Amino acid sequence: MLFNRLYQPDIDLDTLEVRPQLQLSTSAESRLSLHWIGVLREFVRGSLAASSGVHTGADALKLLLAGADVVMATSALLRHGPEHLRELRREVVTWMDERDYDSVRQLRGSVSRANVPDPDVYDRANYFQVIHSWNSARH
Ligand SMILES: Cc1cc2nc3c(=O)[nH]c(=O)nc-3n(C[C@H](O)[C@H](O)[C@H](O)COP(=O)(O)O)c2cc1C
Repeated sequence: MLFNRLYQPDIDLDTLEVRPQLQLSTSAESRLSLHWIGVLREFVRGSLAASSGVHTGADALKLLLAGADVVMATSALLRHGPEHLRELRREVVTWMDERDYDSVRQLRGSVSRANVPDPDVYDRANYFQVIHSWNSARH
């Protein structure tokens, strides 16, 4: 499972106490799982479960495309309630229908590191390009 988001305490700067504070995740946190599932898919024979930052159908789809066998959601269900699963599933099915996918199996891992034309997009070697794109977006 990549990655379990462990409980993260906070420090109160007035009392210097370590405080328990539940902070739910955001979609942005799914990028760490997406990266490593995409890289590891070709090396791991066992199942890969994606956890952390799965809030929308888009989050789920990206992780499946990277190579996850299943995706898991905790924060999203705490925030929106268990009925949110229906919406998440609807978004996934709509996206698949629009692109004529019949099953998740057809798309799973199709954008993993082993299956993209330029594997560098998954690697650190790509840093220069990433930083450059950040600059261009703002100037
Ligand atoms: C209230 C709460 C309780 C959790 N309890 C556990 C637990 O007992 N064991 C565990 O391994 N992870 C636990 N987690 C971590 C979740 O399994 C998951 O890794 C984490 O919430 C990241 O996924 P998310 O972005 O969908 O929330 C808990 C998370 C929350 C928010």
